[in-house]
Amino acid sequence: MKRDDITLRGAGESAAIAPQPAMGRSHPHESARAQVAGNAHYIDDLPELRGTLFAAPVMSPVAHGRVNGIDASAALAMPGVHGVVLASDIPGDRVFPSAARDEAILASEAVQHVGQVVALVVADTVMAARRAARFVKLDVTPLPAILSVQDALAAQSFVLPPVHVRRGDAEAALAQATHRLQGQFETGGQEHFYLEGQIAYALPLEQGQWWIHSSNQHPGEVQHWVAHALGIPAHAVRVECRRMGGGFGGKETQAGHMAVWAALAARKFGRPVKLRLDRDDDFMVTGKRHPFAYEYDVGFDASGRITGLKLQMATDCGHSADLSGAVADRAVFHCDNAYFLEDVDIVSYRCKTHMQSHTAFRGFGGPQGVIAIEVILGDIARRLRLDALDVRLRNLYGKDERNVTHYQMQVEDNILHELLPTLEQSSDYRRRQKAVSAWNAVNPVFKRGLAITPVKFGISFTATLFNQAGALVHVYTDGSVQVNHGGTEMGQGLNTKVAQVVADELGVPLDHVMVTAADTSKVPNASATAASSGTDLNGRAAQYAARTVRDNLAAFVSGLDRCGAGAVRFEGGMVISPQTTRPWREVVVAAYANRIQLWSDGFYRTPKIHYDKTTLTGRPFFYFAYGAACTEVAIDTTTGESRVLAIDILHDVGRSLNPAIDVGQIEGGFIQGMGWLTTEELVWDPKGRLATHAPSTYKIPATSDVPEHLNVALWPEANREDNVGGSKAVGEPPFMLAISVYEALRNAVAAARADGGAAAGERIELRAPATAENVLRALGRVAG
Ligand code: MTE
Ligand code: HPA
Ligand code: MOS
Repeated sequence: MKRDDITLRGAGESAAIAPQPAMGRSHPHESARAQVAGNAHYIDDLPELRGTLFAAPVMSPVAHGRVNGIDASAALAMPGVHGVVLASDIPGDRVFPSAARDEAILASEAVQHVGQVVALVVADTVMAARRAARFVKLDVTPLPAILSVQDALAAQSFVLPPVHVRRGDAEAALAQATHRLQGQFETGGQEHFYLEGQIAYALPLEQGQWWIHSSNQHPGEVQHWVAHALGIPAHAVRVECRRMGGGFGGKETQAGHMAVWAALAARKFGRPVKLRLDRDDDFMVTGKRHPFAYEYDVGFDASGRITGLKLQMATDCGHSADLSGAVADRAVFHCDNAYFLEDVDIVSYRCKTHMQSHTAFRGFGGPQGVIAIEVILGDIARRLRLDALDVRLRNLYGKDERNVTHYQMQVEDNILHELLPTLEQSSDYRRRQKAVSAWNAVNPVFKRGLAITPVKFGISFTATLFNQAGALVHVYTDGSVQVNHGGTEMGQGLNTKVAQVVADELGVPLDHVMVTAADTSKVPNASATAASSGTDLNGRAAQYAARTVRDNLAAFVSGLDRCGAGAVRFEGGMVISPQTTRPWREVVVAAYANRIQLWSDGFYRTPKIHYDKTTLTGRPFFYFAYGAACTEVAIDTTTGESRVLAIDILHDVGRSLNPAIDVGQIEGGFIQGMGWLTTEELVWDPKGRLATHAPSTYKIPATSDVPEHLNVALWPEANREDNVGGSKAVGEPPFMLAISVYEALRNAVAAARADGGAAAGERIELRAPATAENVLRALGRVAG
């Protein structure tokens, strides 16, 4: 889609609101040109200080074992090697200070997964360090390992206790149901595959101070972790991140490991140390999206409306808790997706296995929750031989009734009753469904499938305390403006949007505003840039900071012109009072000369949210973001290969701050979701070794997998809650639209199986990701 073609549906309405010179327009990403030209700095591009050393990890070869000893003599004898760093070199606490405190910084007594880091080799060059790391010998006694959710459930092996959420009486509702269906299914994990791998560069400064360059989503947490490991106060550690080459959740906590390891090595040798993981090592060391296993028992009436549901979700958290509690909670909060579940019983198990510690990944458990109910509704529709969209529409949250979630939050802003029928029309769903059936009736080899699925995604960190942000706005005497906020840029366009917000608050052209690197010495205690809330939180904080500066200037001008400060407007680079119109810069210079403060901080906390962590009830989300996608696929029943033929998306970003960036997020999120459900398969061998640890064996979508027919339209209504610029968060919600790919694939498989004489209404068991092999399995053409 050409960016110039992006139009806001109902643009007339937004034009009626006050003209916004920067917000609402498709300004290019602030780094787009530099990135394309190769001039944008990532950490590995920073000039290296003289004396910089390089670290490489020594990894456990077994999934679970007792460490008897480490022999580094061969490595130490290799050219360029300075030494090794072991747990005994840690001056502070030897565990990462995560909430659960269950992960060793460097494993010393036990190893818990293949790839766990036990030591670092430090050398003159990256290659010397990596080569030598292979010559460090570990003496490990293997212990029995738990390598699947099923084994973990059987062994009652959990990183955190199970969580139950119940409403009504599911048991009784199931007993009384007209129809009843049971099923089991699984979804796989997903590697983040950020283009820039994990990296940190630790610089020891004078008097015990530190400067850490870290590619990470949560500089404040990295600062805390480094200080904790070094046994020094946080004020001595400065963490900076100009940008990441993608994070996708994979750098929310686990970038902290690189930073701590690099800092420990730098401390031991008194030199700057850079640690950049090789791609294969990145796969082996870091956690991924949580795989899930589900069991359900659903009751429904003849129209397909759900009357009772029991759902068990068990997730593989890996060897430590990391963010698994919050991820599994978000899955519980999203297993209703857009549908009212009256009598429900949900149980969520957080399993401990001897695998990488799974972590945040776009959607943060939301996709794993949403797919549960979408699979169940797809199964119900096929059982009843009803159109799946009709079944979905019948189960939607109501407007005035049937609108309270299983966690007791009232759904006040539901727009799916209008949005879904609009997409149904614009995608020509009914006609195409008939065409697909006609095609399938006469084509025995290639089968098609079509599906529409909606999304309703809760916006706010479920951990209420993270929903706060700070920013600084500095106006210099030449009229230029510098902004710093607690968020991080990972390609999502946060800095561009924040600059747009500030430009409009001050009424100056966008090129007057520059956003600088995330830096713990500017805005302290900032939350992770995550939960899609970066712009909501930091955009508002920056807006408030700019507002204070503007108020200072308005008061100054009102004194000059003897008018009320409220009568002074800031627009188009001018400061306009009822008496005089002056250029922005002139006002800034005069204000400076009169000792008016030209900079300010701003602070924002999300209103209205609260919830009880033990029962998971309350209002965890400020609002919901909505959307829907219509996807058509084809499968080759002889090979199992599949193709996405056409995608139509209608998505709700509120009043878009930047339509080009929002459409980019929608397309990118969808395609990443498509990868999760189609080709991105992680395979661990029976010894717990990840066999798919490079692009040769792990396949993310390529441009050629994106169909030419990819239409994205934006829903024209502003956020009904008072959010920055009337916008809604966009980073994660579109990921879940790709569940339409999976449901379309199951429909195509169903069409093929009906040909083969399969029982009518049979459950289509298609493992996710729907690789060619798994499609053949679902067709009953291969065993297992
Ligand atoms: N877009 C790009 N280009 N790169 C990324 O790493 N991360 C996603 C999403 N979009 C990501 C991205 C994730 S997981 C989240 S939570 C949000 O961006 C975070 O940024 P935001 O809150 O500013 O939207
Ligand atoms: N989303 C993303 N990251 C998080 C969350 C969340 O809800 N809670 C804690 N970290
Ligand atoms: Mo995104 S998974 O909340 O970093």
